[in-house]
Amino acid sequence: MKPPSSRMEQSAPSFFSGLAVRIEAMRQAGDVIRLDEGSPDLPPAPPIIAALINSASASNTHSYQTHRGPKDLRAAWVGMYQRVHNVTLDPDSEVLPLLGTKEGIFHLSLAYLDPGDVALIPDPGYITYSRGAAFAGGRPYFMPLLQERTYLPDLDAIPADVVRKAKLLWLNYPNNPTASVAPLEFFEKAVVFARKNDLLLCHDAAYSQVTYHGYHAASILEIPGAKEVAVEFNSLSKTYNMAGWRLGALVGNPQVVRTLFMLKTNADSSHFLPILQAATEAMTGDQAWITERNQVYQQRRDLVIHTLHGLGLMAAVPQASLYVWCPVPTGLTSEDFTNLVLDQAYVSLTPGTVFGDHGEGYVRISLTAPTERLALAMQRISSLSFIKK
Ligand SMILES: Cc1ncc(COP(=O)(O)O)c(C=O)c1O
Repeated sequence: MKPPSSRMEQSAPSFFSGLAVRIEAMRQAGDVIRLDEGSPDLPPAPPIIAALINSASASNTHSYQTHRGPKDLRAAWVGMYQRVHNVTLDPDSEVLPLLGTKEGIFHLSLAYLDPGDVALIPDPGYITYSRGAAFAGGRPYFMPLLQERTYLPDLDAIPADVVRKAKLLWLNYPNNPTASVAPLEFFEKAVVFARKNDLLLCHDAAYSQVTYHGYHAASILEIPGAKEVAVEFNSLSKTYNMAGWRLGALVGNPQVVRTLFMLKTNADSSHFLPILQAATEAMTGDQAWITERNQVYQQRRDLVIHTLHGLGLMAAVPQASLYVWCPVPTGLTSEDFTNLVLDQAYVSLTPGTVFGDHGEGYVRISLTAPTERLALAMQRISSLSFIKK
């Protein structure tokens, strides 16, 4: 057999798959608490599950579906954008369902990047932006997200020759992993920058409805004229606790929506209708439970922040997202700290460097463990002798 394509050389196994093996082995010796992944532990609201069961019980819901999905599903996305963002979308040309936004993010790079094209990517950032670029033969240019700039990239600092070769600009707010948020003025600036430099602005809004104290996380499409240069990835994974269901959408610029649609007609065969119908129920049904769910995350956030600050680890208090971005004790690297906490406290965190070089000096702590488990994890971390109190 001949070897796989050279493209596969870009493909390192994900950090989390390696970690899962390590944790499995450790579980022989003790109870490991995982605060590394961002996978919601709470279920979706009961009507969503009922919709899935009802639909799956019918005899006529088991065939292939069209790539655009049922009209009422797209109408549900349109309704959600109107309700949450006051943004009007056309259900036929500006909404494309995805098998989770990860799929769409990866495929968008394949659809837009030729070998040598540049994608402007936040560092630290969600890894699929750079993996997609690498698979397409494109070149990532990493834009540092620094604490002193409140984790917003300095678009004006990108060298002119890099901008000339760039096709895609990736942004993600509320941000993974830094848990930072972007003011509307930054989005305005990004839209102007994309228009001036002929870029496609891709905003990943995976955490747009995991917010605290009534904070409103804006859609990039709230900026007047954004649709001319921008698309947004909207995920149901975190908003509706539906991570395993694999559902998201690309919304915005109709030309880009059509292009990704063309690619997907070659790569997949849409989704299972009962899942699409349950997603429609999620977006059109009672939304009050999301506020209650966010209050649970907020209590967890406060518990984690209280512990960390008590240990002298001065993490910023997030207004949104599922994470706390925590500086590591002086003298340790992100990886050192993560390893020590895992080995000594049996608590698993994600080293910031998993998300890029500028993640050094931080760990990401996820709030997606049951509150009592999170409290136990904080107790264990507090008792570690190597952390100066
Ligand atoms: C920033 C960001 N974008 C996209 C995704 C992928 O989400 P989905 O479940 O919709 O594929 C994640 C998942 O953790 C994420 O953190």
